[in-house]
Amino acid sequence: MLQGRRVLLAVTGGVAAYKSAFLARRLVEAGAEVKVILTESAREFIGPQTFAAITGAQPHMSLFGEPSVSPHTDLARWCEVVIVAPATASTIGKVANGISSDLVSATLLSAGSPVLLAPAMHTEMWEHPATQRNIKTLESDGYLFIGPVAGALAGGDVGMGRVSEPDEIVEAIERILSPDESGLRVLVTAGGTREPLDPVRYLGNRSSVKMGHAIANEAALRGIRVTLVTASNMAAGPTVTVVAVETADEMAEAVFGEDIDVAIMAAAVADFQPSKSSEGKISRTDGLDSIELIPTPDVLASVVARDPKPFVVGFAAETGGVERAIEKALEKKVDLLVYNDITEPGSGFETDTNRVVLIDSKGTTDAWPLMSKQEVASLLLDRIATMMAARG
Ligand code: CTP
Repeated sequence: MLQGRRVLLAVTGGVAAYKSAFLARRLVEAGAEVKVILTESAREFIGPQTFAAITGAQPHMSLFGEPSVSPHTDLARWCEVVIVAPATASTIGKVANGISSDLVSATLLSAGSPVLLAPAMHTEMWEHPATQRNIKTLESDGYLFIGPVAGALAGGDVGMGRVSEPDEIVEAIERILSPDESGLRVLVTAGGTREPLDPVRYLGNRSSVKMGHAIANEAALRGIRVTLVTASNMAAGPTVTVVAVETADEMAEAVFGEDIDVAIMAAAVADFQPSKSSEGKISRTDGLDSIELIPTPDVLASVVARDPKPFVVGFAAETGGVERAIEKALEKKVDLLVYNDITEPGSGFETDTNRVVLIDSKGTTDAWPLMSKQEVASLLLDRIATMMAARG
């Protein structure tokens, strides 16, 4: 519930602006006090009177001509959370670059409260390197994101870029404003480890880290205390404690030092490392006949062996059917194994989507449809919470 909580809803210009009227309605129904800002482009899609009727107050629309001499700082100081829905590529670009050319961007630049952005745009715009660069910048500046998701877009197109549904946004705002009080400590591993051969070369893998980071960010969004041990320099949410590592040995050591109630092992950890790493660069002239490999520590096994045993989620990115993954779930004694077939379209390392099958400790499977990695992260955390609650 959001009884008495002060929510600032910033609506920017995309067709998804019509959904923000439903969002405003849901926020009001949940008890929130809602103020609305509409950009000029948003008003091409939806009128101010709609929001006035829903929230009981006229929306704010301009830096100038309002009764307040400084509407952006007044609004920024008033609110406990800002939700930008829909957040266009243009507004995302402005905020990532500190541009404050209208009331929404100036308010965001002044806001000290958490800001949640719900992007909505065509797939081409979402995937453009400039948009992705801006998202990374905003993530590392501490902005929170919900969506976009895959689905129907403007003009009959289908793809990634659809705004999250109003109910999901309200739930995210509730989580932001009421941090998790369970005190659970969640550890997430992410990224592909790199095992050095010399100062220049390493043995690595194609893991893109997206799944692990999505889980850590989603957990943080829920107010959960989360430590992310990651073999990547990708940004994580502001409240995620990040431990950067490079090798399997470093990952094992970092995990060893953590008190854990839930371990979500999404990292692609090397199974073997070179028995020695040359101090100097190995030259072509000197040659290299062979590389001797030795096993790396099994980080997941070390967590499963703990007493008391945390709730452990393993991952298995395979190139074959689910049968091997079911065997793996039983062998590794995990509470859940998340299997995906990396050869399937939309389920590979570099994609924003994933199609997973959950396997429990008895080998029972639950196949989920193709969805964004963020949606997988969210549903996975829900499932873990349900399973832990059932066990008391
Ligand atoms: N894992 C780990 N430490 C390792 C290897 C794997 O913690 N040294 C974890 C991964 O993070 C993942 C799970 O174990 O959650 C399964 O990883 P996977 O590579 O699929 O399993 P392996 O044990 O390496 O089995 P195989 O190579 O036979 O597929």
